[in-house]
Amino acid sequence: MEIAPGAEHLPRYLSIAQQRAIVDRCRALVDGAVPAYTPTVRGGGRMHVRMLCLGQHWNGRMYRYEPTRSDFDDLPAPPLPDDFKSLASAIARAAGTALDPDLCILNYYDADGRMGLHQDKDESARSLAAGLPVVSVSLGDTARFLFGGLKRRDRIEERLLESGDAFVFGGPARLRYHGVSRIIPGTAPRELALAGRFNLTFRRYDI
Ligand code: SIN
Ligand code: MN
Repeated sequence: MEIAPGAEHLPRYLSIAQQRAIVDRCRALVDGAVPAYTPTVRGGGRMHVRMLCLGQHWNGRMYRYEPTRSDFDDLPAPPLPDDFKSLASAIARAAGTALDPDLCILNYYDADGRMGLHQDKDESARSLAAGLPVVSVSLGDTARFLFGGLKRRDRIEERLLESGDAFVFGGPARLRYHGVSRIIPGTAPRELALAGRFNLTFRRYDI
């Protein structure tokens, strides 16, 4: 389903069995040896998600990528698993584009989780200029996803991202503003036994 040039929503892309397998991996990752944490961003505000970056770490105080978490505990970002990479590539293909990701930001939203309107623009200038897509996978509770334009003041569309949905934005849509106004508690498929929402965004830092 094309939302805008370069932006595709793939509702229910993942089966329940696939969702369960990924949710189990996400749970183990966020409570693993390098756990998810609540970033403090430039300006001092705390984010309303727990974040774990795979492949490269996004430093929320500096708005840049680095190998180790210098804004938190200096631990190295865990590697991006190969099967996660393949999943993101398959989704990009299904959306009519291509991505060989080298990083993923895994976010957990609890009932109060949200994310302000922002652009994803900390990847390399070459990656952004090439319009390499961001591939997003949603699991668990439904999110009210905001999708705007290239300027903060542009009209914003609200769209529900449900468990198993994929959303891809690249090319002319790569720098569109987006965010999550809230999640809708209790909407996750029962089979996942998950309170809250995981979202994975795959990107390519450099080309
Ligand atoms: C993000 O923009 O990084 C996350 C979007 C989402 O949670 O759907
Ligand atoms: Mn984003």
